[in-house]
Amino acid sequence: MTTFEHLLVEKQDRIAWVSIHRPKKLNALNAALLEELHQLFLSLKEESDIRIIVLTGSGEKAFVAGADIAEFAQFDAQQGKMLSRKGQKTVFDLIAQSSKPVIAAINGFALGGGLELALSCHIRIASTNARMGLPETSLGVIPGYGGTQRLAQLIGRGRATEMILSCRMVTAEEALNVGLVSQVVSQEELLSSAATLAEKIMCNSSNAMGHALRAIDAAYQEGVAGFEQEINAFGECFGHPEFKEGTQAFLEKRKANF
Ligand code: COA
Repeated sequence: MTTFEHLLVEKQDRIAWVSIHRPKKLNALNAALLEELHQLFLSLKEESDIRIIVLTGSGEKAFVAGADIAEFAQFDAQQGKMLSRKGQKTVFDLIAQSSKPVIAAINGFALGGGLELALSCHIRIASTNARMGLPETSLGVIPGYGGTQRLAQLIGRGRATEMILSCRMVTAEEALNVGLVSQVVSQEELLSSAATLAEKIMCNSSNAMGHALRAIDAAYQEGVAGFEQEINAFGECFGHPEFKEGTQAFLEKRKANF
């Protein structure tokens, strides 16, 4: 098994638990950490015994406090563009387009690139102490890892614009109210809630879930006809053994075994 410097990875009962681990820097995303996330998600994609991934931050204070400001403070325009493009392609889009569901368990500060990381996951749950925001304009820059797009898609243009321009952090409760997260629990219960949700999801066909994730994502892809994608994916499910098992189990009044 690959070992990482900035990621703690534990695999158990078909779930990969991934903790971002840069404790002295509130888990801020530097280039080395992003490369590790890239490598990890590529390898999880190939691991047939892993059905779902839970991403969280190590420690009690932060999920991820942003991209590592010290690392890009001296960059020029060209380097800035490369930083954003490379990060989007190799990590944030890779996670968003994963055919295995990815749950962000937001256990503290999720700021800047940290919130963008959570936004690239398919589902977000948070602990009551979590604080979320995109403070980039306070640094003279804008969100560069998909935040201007994904936050607006999720909570609406007006609310996203307000958060991005004001740099205001929202509480877990407010995040729940606007649909930024779908569940808020105490910090002690966060990982067990993630496990309960993961187990519920894993009862269902992973083939169908992969198709569903791609079809949902199609609505946000330029030049992709989402309804057409849905029709094709719907049809393809019929040719998969999990469809036979799911429908057969229903007819035989038993639980499907996926
Ligand atoms: N990049 C680099 N280092 C960061 C960081 C980031 N995004 N966020 C936190 N750190 C570092 C701090 O510099 C500090 O390092 P040091 O001990 O070597 O000085 C360490 O993590 C602890 O952070 P600190 O600021 O002392 O903790 P705090 O409890 O006082 O404040 C925050 C917590 C999250 C409010 C504050 O760290 C913060 O505002 N971070 C930046 C958030 C941000 O703008 N993110 C967007 C980046 S694009």
